[in-house]
Amino acid sequence: MSSEKRIGVLTSGGDCSGLNAVIRAIARRAIGEYGWRLFGIHDGTMGLLRRPLDYEELTLKVFTGNVLRMGGTILGASSKGDPFAFPMPDGSVKDRSDEIIEGYRELGLDGLIVIGGDGSLRIMQALAERGNLNIVAVPKTIDNDIGLTETCVGYNTAVYVATEALDRLQPTAASHSRVIILEVMGRDAGHIALASGIAGGADIILIPEIPYRLENVTSRISQLREKGHTHALIVVAEAVKTESGETLGVRSESGSVRYGGIGNYLKEQITDLTGLETRVTVLGHLQRGGVPTPRDRLMGSAFGVHAVDMIKEGKFGHMVAWQNRRVVDVPISDVLGHYYGVDPQGTLVKTARGLGISFGD
Ligand code: F6P
Repeated sequence: MSSEKRIGVLTSGGDCSGLNAVIRAIARRAIGEYGWRLFGIHDGTMGLLRRPLDYEELTLKVFTGNVLRMGGTILGASSKGDPFAFPMPDGSVKDRSDEIIEGYRELGLDGLIVIGGDGSLRIMQALAERGNLNIVAVPKTIDNDIGLTETCVGYNTAVYVATEALDRLQPTAASHSRVIILEVMGRDAGHIALASGIAGGADIILIPEIPYRLENVTSRISQLREKGHTHALIVVAEAVKTESGETLGVRSESGSVRYGGIGNYLKEQITDLTGLETRVTVLGHLQRGGVPTPRDRLMGSAFGVHAVDMIKEGKFGHMVAWQNRRVVDVPISDVLGHYYGVDPQGTLVKTARGLGISFGD
């Protein structure tokens, strides 16, 4: 490799706040410090599949304004189109992985930084192995479920949004003596529900990692009323199942589920069982957008700088991670074997229980 490198960056999977802080940090380090050329690939791996290739050369001029503060991703993202089983217009699926590998070669990249969640990391790791690509990864997802890192870009903003929602819901719940349920995202992990539920003063938190019984939920509401609380706040993670174990959501053709509906299910059940006035707010994609919190900008900046330095050192196949107050890096293959859900015996669950918050168990 010559000292003037050509590197690429792409944002893959669902977006979140803080992605632009990562891209900006990569640009400042790679272009500003090392004098390399940086290519921003559009719409995740789609930019490497399209012909002509879909990308732009990024210059420092792009980052003189408010990019650090912007939600979303200036490069675009795509959470569809696994290149190993790419959905074709005629309904069939095709392995298009070689086209992406060709795209990487055509751009003449010395390295590619992938800002993605666990699904994207799995795909990129397989592509890297197949095509001998030099990749490094930056963890991002509001779900915070990527292993071997204590935090992912986007998670803190999502918790902030969900907490703020509870700050707004509590006064109206109190004014009308209602039960209010907040359904939050998180896929199969209950991190957003747990953190926002504690920070936002929820009475009950339901997460996929801790099975619940409806009778425990309603008896907790009754206890609160006996103690003079006329309202109750419940936070529920989207992947929580019905009491009989049914997953609620929409199943796609590929078999994956887009979760949604548990809030309304709980509302019906609680109304039937208690007769109390109950309302639901489904927070949805509000958790993914908006101005990133300082913490997400900080993590994004630290991760972006370290990712570029890994390319400088020729350390590929690794993901940057936050561990014990430091940025480190870990092999992507190890990350893929470590899903990070809520630990039912962990500090935050103990904290919640210590505060008298019920998990319905
Ligand atoms: O993985 C991030 C996430 O926001 C999940 O929390 C949620 O289940 C999913 O993506 C929603 O996906 P989509 O944007 O495709 O509706």
